[in-house]
Amino acid sequence: MSTYWDQAPGYWGHIGPPLRPSASDIGFITDFVSQWRRRDLRVLILGVTQEYQRIEWPEATVLCAADREKAMIQKLWLGDPDRAYEADWRSLPVDPNTQDIVLCDGGLTVVDYPDSVDQIAQELYRVLSPGGYAIFRVFLPSPATMTPASVVDDLKCGRIGDLNILKIRLWQALQANPHQGVRLADVWDEVRSGVDDFDDLATRIGWQVERFDALELYRNCEDIYRLLTVDEVVSVFCKAGRFELQGVKVPSYPLGESCPSIAFRSEKPS
Ligand SMILES: C[S@@+](CC[C@H](N)C(=O)[O-])C[C@H]1O[C@@H](n2cnc3c(N)ncnc32)[C@H](O)[C@@H]1O
Repeated sequence: MSTYWDQAPGYWGHIGPPLRPSASDIGFITDFVSQWRRRDLRVLILGVTQEYQRIEWPEATVLCAADREKAMIQKLWLGDPDRAYEADWRSLPVDPNTQDIVLCDGGLTVVDYPDSVDQIAQELYRVLSPGGYAIFRVFLPSPATMTPASVVDDLKCGRIGDLNILKIRLWQALQANPHQGVRLADVWDEVRSGVDDFDDLATRIGWQVERFDALELYRNCEDIYRLLTVDEVVSVFCKAGRFELQGVKVPSYPLGESCPSIAFRSEKPS
């Protein structure tokens, strides 16, 4: 079965912040890294986020990545191919206590809740060294009630800056709870039923029409996204004393209030 992520590499140029990390999100990570004394850091990325690969890591850092989608690795991994594992985050091909930092951009949105989030927390507890950090950027549900139709109205009135913001706002408007999440096909249906002509709309609101092409990937797509609150993520990670919350950073870019980063430290005894 085809998923969003085996098609996404062809449209990667259309995806940008806040669906990808910005400089301030990277700054939150590098502040943690700078506290670390060892130069031979061991860093694992869940996914193949290029902004994380491009961080100026200390010399001798060993940077690896894990992603279950071969097409994403082939398109986006910039390093040694042997260091990008085609693997599920719930069962990593990585020895215990061998990682100092694990990073993940938006990955908790694309797995089911709470079971897979719990399995990922357990797996990261296993692979991180005692005191190691796991840092996630997450997408939050909206604190305010908004309807999908009101988001599409905002789009038609030119009040939504780009497709990245449109997607997040529609996820928020469509999600009833994190257990059910949002089916990507429903996002597509909502936009399609409210917009007669993408070319015409793009001209009117000043978008490049190709931006709407990237939304085509949502058509008939059965992938489910789930937006979790910070409290929901913290309660799973900190369950049974596995991790301790180290900080939450809410960025100031547009819609940043919905895209905080959360840092955890492994409480594993040394
Ligand atoms: C990390 S998320 C979000 C993308 C991110 N914002 C970026 O800039 O790269 C997307 C990636 O997660 C991968 N993925 C989703 N579920 C996974 C799982 N259970 N195990 C491993 N990879 C998974 C997908 O294949 C996709 O490449």
